[in-house]
Amino acid sequence: MRDTYLTDLKKYFPNGGTIVSELEESSARDFVNIAELLAGKHTDHVVKLRGWIYRTRSSGRLVFPVIRDSSGQIQCTVFKGSVSEEDFTAAKKALVESSVVISGKAVADKRAPGGFEIQVESFTVVHFAEVFPITKDQSIEFLADKRHLWLRSAKMTAVLKLRSTVFGAIHEYFRDEGFYEYQSPIFQAVQCEGGSTLFNVDYFKQKGIFLAQTWQLYAEPAIFSLENIYTISPSFRAEKSKTSRHLTEYWHAEMEMAWSSFEDIIRHGEALIKHVIGKVLDVNGKELETLGRDATKLEASLNKPFIRMTYDDAIALLREKSGIDVTWGKDLRTVEEDELVKNFDRFVIVTHYPKSVKAFYMKEDPDNPEVVFGTDFLAPEGYGEIIGGSQREEKLEEIERKLVEMGEKVEEYSFYLDTRRYGSVPHGGFGMGVERLISWLCGLDNIKDAIPFPRTLTRYYP
Ligand code: 4AD
Ligand code: MG
Repeated sequence: MRDTYLTDLKKYFPNGGTIVSELEESSARDFVNIAELLAGKHTDHVVKLRGWIYRTRSSGRLVFPVIRDSSGQIQCTVFKGSVSEEDFTAAKKALVESSVVISGKAVADKRAPGGFEIQVESFTVVHFAEVFPITKDQSIEFLADKRHLWLRSAKMTAVLKLRSTVFGAIHEYFRDEGFYEYQSPIFQAVQCEGGSTLFNVDYFKQKGIFLAQTWQLYAEPAIFSLENIYTISPSFRAEKSKTSRHLTEYWHAEMEMAWSSFEDIIRHGEALIKHVIGKVLDVNGKELETLGRDATKLEASLNKPFIRMTYDDAIALLREKSGIDVTWGKDLRTVEEDELVKNFDRFVIVTHYPKSVKAFYMKEDPDNPEVVFGTDFLAPEGYGEIIGGSQREEKLEEIERKLVEMGEKVEEYSFYLDTRRYGSVPHGGFGMGVERLISWLCGLDNIKDAIPFPRTLTRYYP
């Protein structure tokens, strides 16, 4: 419609670039959105709106299409006598998901969902949709195959709106805190988070090139220039298990700070999550309602300090409260993390993990070199690890020793080790799994619904 509209305009104004764009702008302003109508802004006025048929039914001389746009849904009534014959036939014939431009009077009506309806005066079908393949009660697999269409559902629309708030809030937090936004490469020549989840790339037949698991090794060099930096970027993990919290491609919000202490890193992690929760509660009340998410679950993490404990405390608590014995030095598995957070209504920050379960770059605690200044932030309600972060080992000999201990080839890290050769400073950072956070915020059953086109072991189409 917009295209035809523009073609028509260009036909009438063959030399009139500015006239056409002025008219195009004024035409956009002619339309109201459904949220405004539901807020009572245009009551008893004749308005124009455009959108898609969400539902429709007709009986004799009446058609009741529900129209949706990105802002909401509104019921319309099309009386045979109130529109042209052509418009009435079109309204009656148009199937779900047909795109339409309509005009009519906005009236308050208590019986209508949302309290308002449009008494239609003109009904133009821009495109008659074919029979929409998605109907009620379809399998998760079918909806995944039709993901490109399922994005239009009320559920996905709500998640995507909330997701937009989350991305905005992350940028806002770091920029307000004086961080620079910085970008690292996706093609990387060294691994950082373990070889088992690396995606190898055929890079002009060159071996040893991987998709980024994290920005970290390419972020640390930049703190010598910018000091405090952050990014939101895709990360890739060749996760071979099917779980409700792993994607092979996810969005990673990461930060790195020069001169920081371990405490600084933890403090920023908590403040970032709280900022995002606050923003979502401010902006997305309607979406939380659509998703059936109890907002008090989010408020609990906003209003009180997060729970803090060391790995030692965590395994003691697991033994005491759940009768689970974790051998000291073993990582906490999903089941154990889930048991642990059952004891609390908010985020749990675990620190001082055994060095055997954490990455080579984490700094050992000088008071107990068996543990490192590493932390995981565990979400409430069993949504798992949202943030992983640490204080970094800043001494050259130490980090070389740890690389050797972990079986890495030191020479491959030579560019990275230069950060410890020329003006090394105490520093640290963390990474937050954005879809993990969104999953928890929305109360989703599976992380796949936190991203428009999820990639997993078995899902890469569409
Ligand atoms: O704990 P991870 O592996 O930490 C790092 O990558 C650090 N280099 C980050 C840093 O310090 N800059 O990953 C960080 C977070 C996890 O806590 C989790 O939320 C998320 O990334 N994550 C995943 N999210 C979805 N799917 C996956 N397969 C994920 N793997 C990690
Ligand atoms: Mg981790």
